[in-house]
Amino acid sequence: MNTPLRSTHVKGDPDTMPDRDDNLAALDLLDGAEQGFTLSVLDSSPDCIKLLELDGTLSFMNSNGMCAMEIDDFDQVRGASWPVMWPQDSHDALADAMAEARSGRTQRFEAYCPTAKGTPRWWDVTVSPVRLADGTVARILAASRDVTDIVTAREQLREQAALLRAEVALKNAALARQKVLLGEIDHRVKNSFASVIALLRMQARIHADVEAGALIGDAANRITTLSRVHEQLHLDPESGFVTLAHYVAALTQDLGQALNAQVEFANDVPNAVRVNPSQAAAIGQLLAELIGNAVKHGGKDRRTTVWVEASAQGERLRLRVMDDGPGLPADFDPDDASGLGMQICQIYAQQMGGSMTHGASPAGGAAFDVDILRDATSVGFT
Ligand SMILES: Nc1ncnc2c1ncn2[C@@H]1O[C@H](COP(=O)(O)OP(=O)(O)O)[C@@H](O)[C@H]1O
Ligand SMILES: [Mg+2]
Repeated sequence: MNTPLRSTHVKGDPDTMPDRDDNLAALDLLDGAEQGFTLSVLDSSPDCIKLLELDGTLSFMNSNGMCAMEIDDFDQVRGASWPVMWPQDSHDALADAMAEARSGRTQRFEAYCPTAKGTPRWWDVTVSPVRLADGTVARILAASRDVTDIVTAREQLREQAALLRAEVALKNAALARQKVLLGEIDHRVKNSFASVIALLRMQARIHADVEAGALIGDAANRITTLSRVHEQLHLDPESGFVTLAHYVAALTQDLGQALNAQVEFANDVPNAVRVNPSQAAAIGQLLAELIGNAVKHGGKDRRTTVWVEASAQGERLRLRVMDDGPGLPADFDPDDASGLGMQICQIYAQQMGGSMTHGASPAGGAAFDVDILRDATSVGFT
């Protein structure tokens, strides 16, 4: 501690400078204590502490300050103007703070100043007046704390935040583009369905008098239900999967309206149950065939009631479709049915790792039970 303390001796014109002893007495927190005590206190501070004359020239710097500023010898800076040690940018702030100190007020600011050896540093600077015993301001005390680490960390955080913001903006833009693209694809799929349906209906009308005409009409109806299934396939954007309960609820309601039937949906499948889009499409088509049959074979000139039930148990899903029609014919054999509907249902049920059984509903109509795996992966006609 001895050497740095030496460097604190104030040199200057005795006429213009306050008496060193008076000044130290004013600095001394313990009235009447040794002046050396004050200097020791200043010297032991981790901050860079400087005593300035009122004109801003440097007359003392504590040893930690010299260390922080990478000054080897106080004589290098003794009597130098404090602001000259700072970059031009900070001069206004320094002049301002010194003017405030001369008027008896303390000011604090943050500024950049490299060390004597050019190491970049940021400082939290407090500039305050040093008064004589009679209250007049005799010197200025400037305490600078090295906040380079804090400022650098803050800067890094700011840069990281800016990078993150840019990344989020890019992702949002990509998502928006994807949404537009999906909308466009959706639109085209709908248009394609509509064109195919219109063409088939036209052909069915041309061949209305032969059996082929009825078959073509059936195909048109089937594609109509396919397009309805497509319309209800709303993917959960986060998972890319379909929430089964919501999907079946929307589809049954839509089919009920389209077929002019009373379709009641009783759901016992938790919302957490999601299926992949191709399985959803298969389930949709299967339900469309069964509900279509209930209406088609449920009795002419009456409004059929159809009950659809869905439940999940462990790895399996169960779908039940019942109606209040006349019931299945006595010789009904789904494997032997001439229509395409039963075949489609059987194939899909098998592809989804399950089977379809049939029977009678409590209302005396037909009942179909489809028991399938919850996460069937590859489904569809190839
Ligand atoms: N819900 C039902 N009620 C009564 N009969 C039905 C029902 N579903 C299917 N069937 C009988 O099964 C047959 C085969 O059905 P499907 O394969 O869909 O052919 P399509 O409906 O074209 O006749 C039907 O013709 C009908 O006799
Ligand atoms: Mg049918």
